[in-house]
Amino acid sequence: MVSTKPLTGEVYYPPEHLVRHANHPDYEAIHQAMLTDLAGEWGRIAREEFEWFAPWQKTLDDSNPPFYQWFVGGRVNIVHNALDRHLNTWRRNKVALLWEGENYDQRSLTYHQLHREVCRFASVLRAMGVNKGDRVTIYMGRIPEIVVAMLACAKIGAVHSVVYGGFSVEALHGRIEDSQSKVAITADGAWLRGKIVPLKDIMDEALQRSPTVQTVIVVRRTGQEVHMEPGRDLWYHDLMRLPIAETCIPTEELDAEHPLFLLYTSGTTGKPKAILHTHGGYMVGVATTLKWVFDLKDDDTWWCTADPGWITGHSYIVYGPLLLGATTLMYEGAPNHPFPDRWWDIVERHGVTVLYTAPTAIRGLMRFGDAWPNRHDLSSLRLLGSVGEPINPEAWKWYHRVIGKGRCPIMDTWWQTETGNFMITPLPGTPLKPGSATLPFPGVQADVVDEEGRSVGPNEEGYLVIKSPWPAMLRTIYGDPDRYVQQYWSRFPGMYLTGDSARKDEDGYFWIIGRVDDVIKVSGYRLGTAEIESALVSHPAVAEAAVIGVPDEVRGSAIYAYCILVQGVEPTPRLVETLREHVAHEVGPIAKPAHIEFVTSLPKTRSGKIMRRVLKARALGMDEGDLSTLEE
Ligand code: WT7
Repeated sequence: MVSTKPLTGEVYYPPEHLVRHANHPDYEAIHQAMLTDLAGEWGRIAREEFEWFAPWQKTLDDSNPPFYQWFVGGRVNIVHNALDRHLNTWRRNKVALLWEGENYDQRSLTYHQLHREVCRFASVLRAMGVNKGDRVTIYMGRIPEIVVAMLACAKIGAVHSVVYGGFSVEALHGRIEDSQSKVAITADGAWLRGKIVPLKDIMDEALQRSPTVQTVIVVRRTGQEVHMEPGRDLWYHDLMRLPIAETCIPTEELDAEHPLFLLYTSGTTGKPKAILHTHGGYMVGVATTLKWVFDLKDDDTWWCTADPGWITGHSYIVYGPLLLGATTLMYEGAPNHPFPDRWWDIVERHGVTVLYTAPTAIRGLMRFGDAWPNRHDLSSLRLLGSVGEPINPEAWKWYHRVIGKGRCPIMDTWWQTETGNFMITPLPGTPLKPGSATLPFPGVQADVVDEEGRSVGPNEEGYLVIKSPWPAMLRTIYGDPDRYVQQYWSRFPGMYLTGDSARKDEDGYFWIIGRVDDVIKVSGYRLGTAEIESALVSHPAVAEAAVIGVPDEVRGSAIYAYCILVQGVEPTPRLVETLREHVAHEVGPIAKPAHIEFVTSLPKTRSGKIMRRVLKARALGMDEGDLSTLEE
C-alpha cells in the first residue's frame, strides 16, 4: 500500500495534463483488484484487448508450481495480434517499423508491408523445412529483417533464439548447440561506428564448432564479399524472389502455452541458460505493461534504443509496440556516430515522443555536455524511460532536465529477461524519486526479504523476490527444468528469486541495489563470470581465471580478471592485450576485461569455490572481511 502521507525524500510530481489523459487505470484500484483476483483481472484484460482463435478454460493453472500456466487451452498466435488483426483497421497503412541505418539509410514498413514481408519469409522458412516447435537461431544487427525473421518464426510456430550481434564465436556456438537449431539467419555484416562487424565470418567460425545447422540464410546489409558455403548458405534476397515466398500464408493457431522464443542469459553459475517464453501470457503481459507504463497512443513515435538481441528489444522494440499497433523506431548504429548528437538528431527528425534507454547511454552522452542535445528541438518528447541497471540520481536529473526539459517524467523500469515485462516501475501518474524504480506494476507482489525469507523493515537491504505468478513470466529453462526450479524457486519456497538485492523505503518505494550473484552488468549488458572465465582458460597461456565486476563511472561495472598462467609463460603487457582480444573473439567485445592481473593463487573456500568477495575487496583496496573459510 502506498501511504497517503507526504512522501519522503526528493519527489518529482507528474504534470497534471499527462495524468489526466493517461492510458492506465487508477493505480491503487487496479493493484488492489489484482491482488484480490489476479486471474480474474488478467483474464478480463486478455479477453478485452486481444483476439483469440479459441477461448481458454483456465486463466491461471497453479496446480504444479513453479510450472505455472496461463490461459490454458486457449488458442492464439502473438503474430495474429501484432500484425494480422491491424490489417482490417485504418492501421493497415500506418508505419509499423521506422528504421534508420547508421549511414542514414531510411526505411519504413507499414503494417501492410511488414505483414507481407513476414508472410513471405515465413513461407520461405517452411520451404526450408522449419516446422512448428523447431528452433531457429537469428544472429543479426539492428536491421528490419531481424524483426521480419522473428515474426516469421512465430507465425509458423517455430521458436526463435536471437543471439545478440555483439556476441562472438564461442558465445554464438554455445547457444546454437544448446538450442539444436537446424536453420540460422544472419547478415553479411552490421554497421557500427563506421566499421563492419563481420557477422557472417563469425557465424562461419561458430558453425565449424556446431554441426547441427544445415541451412544459413544471409541478409545483405553491408555488401562486402563473404564466403557462401555451397549447399548450406543462401541469400535472403534470392529466396524472397522465388515462388516459395508466398505472400499470403495463414498464421498458425497455437496453444497459448506454445513456446515463442528462447533467450539465453547469464545466471549464477555455469553456462548461459535458455529462458523460455510462450505466446499467450507473454503477449498479454508485454502489451499491457507498455500501454500503461509508457502510455502509448496512436500518434506516438516510440523509440526503444535497445538491441533486439536482448529481452528489452524482444518485448519493447518488436512485440509490445506492434501488439499495440504503434510506430516503433529502430536505429542501427552507435549513439555517438558520426557525432555525439546522433540520438538527439534522430529524436528531432523523426519526432520521437517516447524515448526508452539505459543509464549507461545517458551517462555516456552526458559526458559530451549539454550543447549537443541543446542544438536540437526535443519538444516532441512526452515521456522518458530507463532500464538495465540502477540509474544514479545525477544521470536521472540530467536526463530529466536537459533531454526532457523538466516536462517529461522518467519511467525507471525494473525487470529481467526472465520476467518478460516490467515488474517494478512507475506509471505516468506516479510521483518519482530519482534513482528509485518506485512501485510494483499492478498485481505484482514484490518484496524484500532476509536470509530466512522474512520481509525486512523499511530501508533494510535484502533479497528482492516476487511472491505471485504473472502472465509473461518465464516458463522454464529450455531443456533443464530442474535448474529452473533450483535457480529461481528453491532459495525461498513459493517465492521467485530475482538475484537482485534491494531496499524498500518508508513509502513502499523500491531501490534496487544490484546483483547478489555472479552476474556482472557491463553497460547494462548482462554477462556471467563463468562464460568469461571459460574463455580465458580456453587460451593456452591460462591455467585458471576468476572474474569480478568493479565500479565504472560510465559502464556501471567493468570486468576485472585474475589469471594464473600456465607454468613457464611470461606475464607480459603484450599477453594482457592478447587475452583481452581472445575474450572479445570468443565471447564478444562487451566481455573484454578492462583489467587483467596475473596472480599465482586465487582465494578459495575449502570446497574449492572462488571467493569473489575477497577478490573484489582486493581490487578496490578494501578490507577483505571474514577470511575464516579461506583455504589458501
Ligand atoms: C537485471 C536483469 C530487463 C531489461 C534489461 C535487463 C538489472 C534491470 C533495472 C532497473 C536497477 C535494473 C537488475 C536485473 N536491472 N532494470 N530499472 N534498475 N536494476 O534484463 O539482462 O535480464 O538483466 O538488470 O540487476 O536483475 P537482463
